[in-house]
Amino acid sequence: MHINSTILSGQGILNDLHYLLEEREHVLFITDQNIVNLPLVSDFIKKVQDTVAVVTLVDDVPPEPSHHDVTNLLNKMKISNADLVIGVGGGSVLDVAKLVSVLCVKNSNVTLELLLDGIKPTRRCTSILIPTTAGTGSEATPNAILAIPEKCTKQGIISPVMLPDYVCLVPELTISMPNHIASSTGIDALCHLIECFTANISNAVGDNYALIGIEKLFNSLERSVKDKTDLEAKLNMLWASYYGGAAIAHAGTHLVHAMSYPLGGKYHIPHGVANAILLVPCMTFIRDVAVDKFSQIYDLLPDADLTLTKEEKSHALVNYFRDLVKRLALPSKLQELNISPDDLPYLVNAALDVKRLMNNVPKKVSKHDVLAIYQSLL
Ligand SMILES: [Fe+2]
Repeated sequence: MHINSTILSGQGILNDLHYLLEEREHVLFITDQNIVNLPLVSDFIKKVQDTVAVVTLVDDVPPEPSHHDVTNLLNKMKISNADLVIGVGGGSVLDVAKLVSVLCVKNSNVTLELLLDGIKPTRRCTSILIPTTAGTGSEATPNAILAIPEKCTKQGIISPVMLPDYVCLVPELTISMPNHIASSTGIDALCHLIECFTANISNAVGDNYALIGIEKLFNSLERSVKDKTDLEAKLNMLWASYYGGAAIAHAGTHLVHAMSYPLGGKYHIPHGVANAILLVPCMTFIRDVAVDKFSQIYDLLPDADLTLTKEEKSHALVNYFRDLVKRLALPSKLQELNISPDDLPYLVNAALDVKRLMNNVPKKVSKHDVLAIYQSLL
C-alpha cells in the first residue's frame, strides 16, 4: 500500500493552511455537531469561508453512520463539482469525508451503491483530513466503515484512492475529548498497532510503523488522559493513532477487531470500549505464538525489566494490558454492558463471519476458542 499524504503537525498549524485554499472554487467542509462549535474549528471555518467563493458546510455527520445516513448527507449537499474536501472530526467524520471525496469529484459516475457493490473509485477531489480523536487512524487508512442496519453489521469500503492529500495533526483539537473517549479511542489505537504487528500478513514496513506507534502510545496515553493540557502527549497520541492506521494499511487487524465488530454492530457498544474488553483475553489467546513479538513490544514500556526472558516478557505484557485497562477505568467484562449468555451464539457466529480478520490471526481459531473468549468475559 502506498501512502503519500503530506503530514502537517503541531500546535497552531490551522493558522498556516491558507496556501491549501488558494485557487479553490468550491470546498466541502465536513464535521459533526460536537466539533463545529469548538472555537478553533469555527475560526477555521470562517477563514475558509473568507478565502473560498463557495463553501458547503455539512456539520451533522452522525456517530457510526449507516449507508442511509451518507445517502441523506449526499442528497442534502447536492454537489457534484467540489474541488476540495476538508474533514474535521473523529473516525466517522473522516470516513464520510473520504467517501465524499470520491463521490463529489467533478464528472464522477461512481455512486455509494456502486462502492458498496465493490466497484473501485479511480479519482477524488483534493482532500484534507484533520482528526479530533486519537484512535481510529482513519486519516491513514484506505477504509471507510458504514453500518448496514438491515443486516446488523458494518461494511468496509476499501480503496487507496480515498487516502487524503493532506493530514493535519493538531494537538489542541483533541483537548475537548472527554476522558472516557480519550481512553477508549487510545485503546483502539493500541489494538490497531498490536494486532497489525502480530498479524499473519505482517511485514517489515507495517512492523516499523507499529513499533514507532506503540512506543509513542506507551509514553503518552495515560499522560494525555490525565492532563488534557499536555499537548506533547496529545500530539504523540495523534501520531500513535496515525501509525496505527498506517499499520492497518499494510497488515490489518485480527482477533480483537473481528470479535469487537458484532458488539458494535448489533449491541452498539462503542468500538474502543469493546476493544478494551477484548484486548486481554485475545492477547492471552495468541501469546504462545507471539512470544518474540510480545517481548519486543514489552521492551518499549518505559519501566521494562530488560533482565526478563522473552517468555516472561510476553506474560508481563499481557499483565500490563490488564492493569492499563483498569487504570483507564474502562470496563473489562461484557456483563457490565448487559450482554448475557443468550447473546453468545449470535456473537460467536458473527465474529467467525469476519473472515478477512479471522484469517489474519496468527493462530488457528476454532468456534470453541471464540466461545471460550466471550464466555470468559461474562
Ligand atoms: Fe479499530
